[in-house]
Amino acid sequence: MAAIPALWLMPVQYKRTARAAGNALFLVLSPESIVQSQNNCTGTFFLAQVCSARIKNDSKLRTPDFRLFRPHIFHQKNYLCPVMSKNTDELFKNVISHAKEYGFVFPSSEIYDGLSAVYDYGQNGAELKNNIKTYWWKSMVQMHENIVGIDSAIFMHPKIWKASGHVDGFNDPMIDNKDSKKRYRADQLIEDKIAKLDAEGKTDEAEVLQADMDAALKSEDLQRLKEIIINNKITCPVSGTANWTDVRQFNLMFSTQMGAMAEESSEIYLRPETAQGIFVNFLNVQKSGRMKIPFGIAQIGKAFRNEVIARQFIIRMREFEQMEMQFFVRPGTEMEWYKYWKEARLKWHLGLGTSSTKYRYHDHTKLAHYANAAVDIEYEFPFGFKEVEGIHSRTDFDLSQHQQYSGKKMQYFDPELGEDGKPYGNYIPYVIETSIGLDRMFLLTLMNAYEEEDLSTEEKQDSRVVLRFPPALAPVKAAIFPLTKKDGLPEKAREIMDRLKLDFQIQYEEKDAIGKRYRRQDAIGTPFCITVDHQTLEDDTVTIRHRDTMAQERVPSADLERIIGDLVSWKKVLA
Ligand code: GAP
Repeated sequence: MAAIPALWLMPVQYKRTARAAGNALFLVLSPESIVQSQNNCTGTFFLAQVCSARIKNDSKLRTPDFRLFRPHIFHQKNYLCPVMSKNTDELFKNVISHAKEYGFVFPSSEIYDGLSAVYDYGQNGAELKNNIKTYWWKSMVQMHENIVGIDSAIFMHPKIWKASGHVDGFNDPMIDNKDSKKRYRADQLIEDKIAKLDAEGKTDEAEVLQADMDAALKSEDLQRLKEIIINNKITCPVSGTANWTDVRQFNLMFSTQMGAMAEESSEIYLRPETAQGIFVNFLNVQKSGRMKIPFGIAQIGKAFRNEVIARQFIIRMREFEQMEMQFFVRPGTEMEWYKYWKEARLKWHLGLGTSSTKYRYHDHTKLAHYANAAVDIEYEFPFGFKEVEGIHSRTDFDLSQHQQYSGKKMQYFDPELGEDGKPYGNYIPYVIETSIGLDRMFLLTLMNAYEEEDLSTEEKQDSRVVLRFPPALAPVKAAIFPLTKKDGLPEKAREIMDRLKLDFQIQYEEKDAIGKRYRRQDAIGTPFCITVDHQTLEDDTVTIRHRDTMAQERVPSADLERIIGDLVSWKKVLA
């Protein structure tokens, strides 16, 4: 086997003979293998294939048992495991591996080699996602008496997407490389070139290129976009050639047929945003809820976009989830509400304890034709600042469009008196939208919580991966451990667990030494570990170990509901 830079050292045991003889071989994998394994979304399985390929090249070696190639096993057995992240690139890769190994995020359809830009949430991911949704819902709906929540269907009348502008305008310019057969977004190829020029200090050139691209995009001049790519010698990252097709517009909406007949009229779309489900229910909610302007309608739900290229894990997916709120206001007051929501939404993010230096606003200088103000809330991911949430002042565009296309009046009668002493009367409300991607918020929460902590002392080397989630968001609130599997300790532990699970998500663990159980809970971000020991049987006290400080204290078991409840309370993040 050729010498390759070592990133992972893995003990490999052989099928059958390995278990008998206890033989172990150390395999050296190249960093590229790891990178590829993550890009291919097949994780450990791909790693195993890489190992297999290398081993089979050596005729003396037999096929290893790939089921042993799971990083968490190395953690558990104190085998050599990936070193602490040396840079942000490596950190991001480690977070992705961690998310998979600890049941947060799995590539979709993994046993069939995955489905590009689609992901599944595992047992801990689903809990974390639900907790993020709850934080959003409580803060938007429960904490605002003038905001209500709905849950509209994903399938909607196809005319809605004509009215909203998505049928005609929800496009990305795409281009194919004829040699590699890879498809790209033309604007992203140019943006990558601009970033490269910037990095090389050629800022003037970058600015000219940016202006050129903006003008071509604005005038939808696809021929010009291609010329820019050719003139700037932009090549395909895979084939390295500039053998490009023409640039074409690509609509991002997925469509399907409703009913058995494949007639054109039965074509419907999977919604590309949840917002339209709110606009078309504006009258229903306003009337049934006797809502007075200003008021908001919130919803959480799936959205689908056939992204030309998907990158950066769950940042850009083809199926994702949004948490959106449309706030209906009197025309002329929209800018004051825009300011209110811009500040309120950043406060919501900071309520989780994230450092404000990780966030920034990005004001839109170029506005969509229906908007009169727009800002993104961006978070600093390891690969740079990325939009997590958008706040848009959408004027009366959407409701007016639906009025025009449906023929139904989308008006509100405002009985309040204006300065002239007369009621404001009938008008189509203006809208401020807050729209946050749940999956991006999930990744943000995970990145922010992830820490590789060096616990080494002079005597021994030690480390742990700990997810320091705000306790209210932690997937599991407490884990309960009997010190041993005998002497009635499991029964006592289960008795306490049966009490606590009425209020909290609790996990029970009795396998392995307590230290290893602590590490496993640290790795999923459990704020408390409770140990039941022989003293518990005598005086009904337990030890409670805190995730962040690792401090332990002895407390009466009767106090557990209060201690856990105080820390994981929503009050800590909402108040
Ligand atoms: N209704 C307005 C709207 O949909 P957007 O900026 O297109 O606006 C809002 O999307 C948020 O949805 C983004 O800030 C982002 O967090 C999330 N989002 C958009 N496209 C996404 C994708 N392909 N994958 C994951 N999240 C996405």
